[in-house]
Amino acid sequence: SEISNRTAATRNIAQKLEEGGFQVVIFWGSQSGTAERFAEALGRECHTRFGINALVADLSDYDADTIAEIQEKHFVAFLLSTYGEGDPSDNAAGFWDWVKRLQEQKTKLRNLRYLAFGLGNSNYKYYNRVLVIVVDALDAAGATALMPPQRADDARGANEEDFQSWKDNIFTLFCGMGYDQKSAAYQPTVNVEFGAGAHSEKDMIHQIPAHHQQSSTTSAIFPLPIRSARELFAAGDRNCIHMELDLGNTDIIYKTGDHIGIWPCNPDEEVERLLKSLALDDKRTCYLSVSPLDNSAKPKVPSGCTLQDALRHHLEICASVSRKTILDLAQFAPNPEAKTMLLELGQDRQRYEQFTSVTHITLARLLQLASPNETWSFLPLSFVIEALLALQPRYYSISSSSVISPRRVAVTALVVNKAITNETSSTIHGLTSNYLLSASKLPSNAAFPTPSFPHTALQPFEGGSVYAHIRKSKFKLPITSSTPLILIAAGTGFAPFRAFLTERAKLYTIGKPIGRMLLFFGCRSPSSDYIYRDELEKLQETLGDKLEIITAFSREMGNGKKVYVQDRVAEYGDKVLEMLDAGANMYICGKAGMAREVDEKIEDALMKTKGLDDGQVKAWVDGLKKRGKWRADVWG
Ligand code: 2AM
Repeated sequence: SEISNRTAATRNIAQKLEEGGFQVVIFWGSQSGTAERFAEALGRECHTRFGINALVADLSDYDADTIAEIQEKHFVAFLLSTYGEGDPSDNAAGFWDWVKRLQEQKTKLRNLRYLAFGLGNSNYKYYNRVLVIVVDALDAAGATALMPPQRADDARGANEEDFQSWKDNIFTLFCGMGYDQKSAAYQPTVNVEFGAGAHSEKDMIHQIPAHHQQSSTTSAIFPLPIRSARELFAAGDRNCIHMELDLGNTDIIYKTGDHIGIWPCNPDEEVERLLKSLALDDKRTCYLSVSPLDNSAKPKVPSGCTLQDALRHHLEICASVSRKTILDLAQFAPNPEAKTMLLELGQDRQRYEQFTSVTHITLARLLQLASPNETWSFLPLSFVIEALLALQPRYYSISSSSVISPRRVAVTALVVNKAITNETSSTIHGLTSNYLLSASKLPSNAAFPTPSFPHTALQPFEGGSVYAHIRKSKFKLPITSSTPLILIAAGTGFAPFRAFLTERAKLYTIGKPIGRMLLFFGCRSPSSDYIYRDELEKLQETLGDKLEIITAFSREMGNGKKVYVQDRVAEYGDKVLEMLDAGANMYICGKAGMAREVDEKIEDALMKTKGLDDGQVKAWVDGLKKRGKWRADVWG
């Protein structure tokens, strides 16, 4: 069962491999689930294609020390993701300590034969640092890499492609090692059956995703009523909305600087398209029973949910289809033309990339495009469920202060609708932000808000509810209100600073001592996307010389060159360093690329002003980060 698979009886991996008759162990270190999903796919294919018995293992389920006991007849694959400041995932913490101890303990790993794959995002400064450090340490300890390590770069949106290429290389290696490749006929990993009866649309329980886990950092999911919603700006294909959600009588507690995870819901239009292509429109209200046949498959769809709800609330049906899925679909094509079309698109990476750069191709759109007149009645529903990812929440930095507004959470969301004009003419809609926008237009008794595309401007507010949970963050104000602050943001990165500043202003008005605050804010121009400008002006009035606002407008008419926040930070370099020396806390929020460039400007200033060399700069910065004086809340 699911549980026995996840809880290892022994924490000794060498013993587990012997006892279970496994040839390979595939370890994953994953935070958001991608490395885990890839590990499971690799494990499954080792078995179906080569008959190799692979154990897919959570790194935290075994004592890392016991990796040294693994015998030479086995091999080990590592799928490791890197986060934030070059950190490993939480479940890799023990493994990470072991890797760092390898050298001092002079542990020898002469029997260890390994394969390594790193997941990271090259917009971040410490791209795939975990992979690099692990591989160096293993090699230094005498382990044998069966193949050079490979990486996936999320910044290029190429995770899936990079993984497929690593997997292909592994399979070539297996062939070279003498393993026989079996025919790759489709083998379902889940059993899907339709139950009888229809269920009530009001039955909200089935909206809660099966895979969400409450933890010490993540709350349970609740439907939160929308109390207010307004547009902060509307400019071309970008809108920004401010929305307030009521925590009401849920037991959710949040703190200033935390994140909110919003569970979107797929638009009816896309659900309909998929039901139709699969010729399953008449089964939409039937209960689904989905049970894993392979104990590594995690449930994506809760039992007792209808087909329609599964497509609306549990699967990422709006995501673009991977090349592998396109190739795998070919075997179920309803006619030879469809099969040819899929094979041609799937076999040629360049062609696929060219096509997806101009067309947002969802599974349903692909099915329609490949076979416009015939439905896909041979396509097993198990395949559809396997090919689609489980729906993920989208995280936003909360823009309200828990001190001022403890039961009402504010979300600041950018709604982007990127139009692509070509022969198939499609528009890429930001799923969650459009969902929020649509949800805010619904009557409050509406049970299932679904986004409608394309959206119109925000109407007078009525208010539905959205499913959400809170995730704790380390992006926190200092305990002492007299600590000076340096706040650096571009675009919606300003969200948590709205919370910080209103909280500080409140303390100031009740007579608390307040430290100086230096805010750097960047946007396109004062007239297009300067969010919360009115509020900021009021805060400036309240806080007087306690707050200094420095703006960077990248598209202001007439000045030719783009000015970004990091340029302003460079200009104010001396002042920033002076404040940091005086004990200020610094916070950076926005896109990873921006944060990386801000870091560089500050490092330049350190070299210039203090005459430090590279090593000294690094030590200085690391010191601040360790003491929590330099914090970043960034996204890819
Ligand atoms: P741009 O769109 O004119 O290039 C919020 O989106 C603001 O962040 C905009 O002014 C945007 O400028 C700017 N921005 C884009 N890329 C950036 C980067 N790498 N560093 C800093 N700001 C950036």
